Amino acid sequence: MGTLLSSHGFSLFLLWTFTLYGLCLSFSPIDNYLINSGASLDSVVDNRRFISDSSNSPDSHLSSGRTFSLCAGTLLPGLPQIYHTARVFNSPSKYVFNVKDPGTHMVRLHFHRFNSSRLDLGNSRFHVLVNGLVALTNFSGGDFVNPKVIEYLLCVNSEKVEIRFVPAKKSNFAFVNAIEVISAPKDLVLETAQYVNGDKIEEFQGLNKQAFETMYRVTVGGPKVTPFNDSLWRTWIPDDEYLKLSEGSNKVYFGGRIKYQDGGASREVGPDNVYDSARLIRSKNASIPNVNLTWEFPVSEDYKYLVRMHFCDIASISLGLLYFNVYVNEHLAYKDLDLSDVTNYMLASPFYADFVVDAGRSGVITVSVGPSSKSMGYTVDAILNGVEIMKMNNSVYSLAGKVPAELIMKCWPRRTLGILLPLIALACLLLSLSAIVHRRKSNAELFPWSKLPTDIHEISPKQAKLQLSNIVT
Ligand SMILES: *[C@@H]1O[C@H](CO)[C@@H](O)[C@H](O)[C@H]1NC(C)=O
Ligand SMILES: *[C@@H]1O[C@H](CO)[C@@H](O)[C@H](O)[C@H]1NC(C)=O
Ligand SMILES: *[C@@H]1O[C@H](CO)[C@@H](O)[C@H](O)[C@H]1NC(C)=O
Ligand SMILES: *[C@@H]1O[C@H](CO)[C@@H](O)[C@H](O)[C@H]1NC(C)=O
Ligand SMILES: *[C@@H]1O[C@H](CO)[C@@H](O)[C@H](O)[C@H]1NC(C)=O
Ligand SMILES: *[C@@H]1O[C@H](CO)[C@@H](O)[C@H](O)[C@H]1NC(C)=O
Repeated sequence: MGTLLSSHGFSLFLLWTFTLYGLCLSFSPIDNYLINSGASLDSVVDNRRFISDSSNSPDSHLSSGRTFSLCAGTLLPGLPQIYHTARVFNSPSKYVFNVKDPGTHMVRLHFHRFNSSRLDLGNSRFHVLVNGLVALTNFSGGDFVNPKVIEYLLCVNSEKVEIRFVPAKKSNFAFVNAIEVISAPKDLVLETAQYVNGDKIEEFQGLNKQAFETMYRVTVGGPKVTPFNDSLWRTWIPDDEYLKLSEGSNKVYFGGRIKYQDGGASREVGPDNVYDSARLIRSKNASIPNVNLTWEFPVSEDYKYLVRMHFCDIASISLGLLYFNVYVNEHLAYKDLDLSDVTNYMLASPFYADFVVDAGRSGVITVSVGPSSKSMGYTVDAILNGVEIMKMNNSVYSLAGKVPAELIMKCWPRRTLGILLPLIALACLLLSLSAIVHRRKSNAELFPWSKLPTDIHEISPKQAKLQLSNIVT
């Protein structure tokens, strides 16, 4: 059939798929698990249903030792319902998700240290493992004010994603408010990237076998992009606080349609709302400004990072006028980038470039764009629409230190229940005795070692109604 297609027919076919793609197809992941931890009811956020993990839910995914659910003491205005409940783990526990679609998966963990009269979530300290990956160590759940969402991308070749929560010590506990496990589109992480190693550019192989933690996801020149406006439910924050020198920078906004093309950056790589805004350098006369636009991102040392830069020429009046240089950590990473050429000569068509880079001793990653020797007067001389900075796992497959997953698990030796049960009973007795003594001494909240009833919530009738109405809608 392919040979029968005239070039006219072929371009019609292209146009047809293009229109179809642009207008109606939205990404629907094969594996799509959303968990509302510690809640007895499901909760809907941006049209996505987070399923309760209570033991009476048919689909809880939770297989664990000792856990209980906790509710925020007060309503947290403006926050989605998923941040009003948490599941607390007193011993290593795991969620298990079956994988139907092997390959890159996104895992998001939501934490919110809300206030509760039963337990101070600020006293938590724990490790999180995702399959063999060390995702978090000695973690306490972020700050008190805002929920923290931590996103990982990892390659899953097994039949399951297992997320383990391991308290740092027996006297600590772990918690989580919500979990997302989503299979990513195949084009989200490719096999190779350019490794910017000093002044050398090398090929980095096996990119899609690495595990990543998203450190920064920034939309340049535009307002925050929320999960509602992103086909992979990501958040893109504005670039203002990372822009180092704004002298000579102009913001630009584009009201037309972003032209996604087959084989180019897809809407899942970056949504319209990221590509339709940018900052740029523009020359108003014949002389080309001698400036760069530079952004700085603090990172922890001793890791490699994937730097993904998003470009879309939404500012040039015609093709073939925009040439610029791209620098990563002050090294020339892409010389004379010609956006017309890399987008098959179409304006407003997105393009992205992946660079792997070492953090270096300074603890910052810088990205810059600036005029190149091919830049021309009276035109746009550099542009950037978005940046993502992803931390890559180290040689022990960790994103959080040098202790491998096996060692973290060994801190909790498996003993036979025969010995354990009397020990636990004794420990509980001693602890509750000391609890009574302590309570008398001070009013401080104590760690609830006594078994708490699972899935009984401090829900006021109003909240219960709210949750119910969430289910109905
Ligand atoms: C939690 O309690 C602390 C003091 O106990 C208070 O400063 C903080 O604002 C409270 N947080 C919320 C979200 O209510
Ligand atoms: C957690 O912190 C303690 C004390 O700072 C340290 O000894 C331990 O190695 C850390 N655990 C991990 C897994 O990094
Ligand atoms: C989604 O994007 C549109 C503009 O593209 C904006 O008007 C709207 O407020 C955004 N919605 C949310 C929930 O962010
Ligand atoms: C071009 O414009 C800049 C300011 O926009 C000015 O500083 C510069 O002198 C001008 N150059 C010429 C050749 O007119
Ligand atoms: C732009 O940045 C690169 C890399 O840091 C540097 O070599 C170049 O001199 C800079 N250009 C200007 C005009 O500052
Ligand atoms: C990440 O982990 C994988 C699997 O253990 C390993 O092959 C790879 O080299 C690690 N990445 C880095 C940058 O060390």
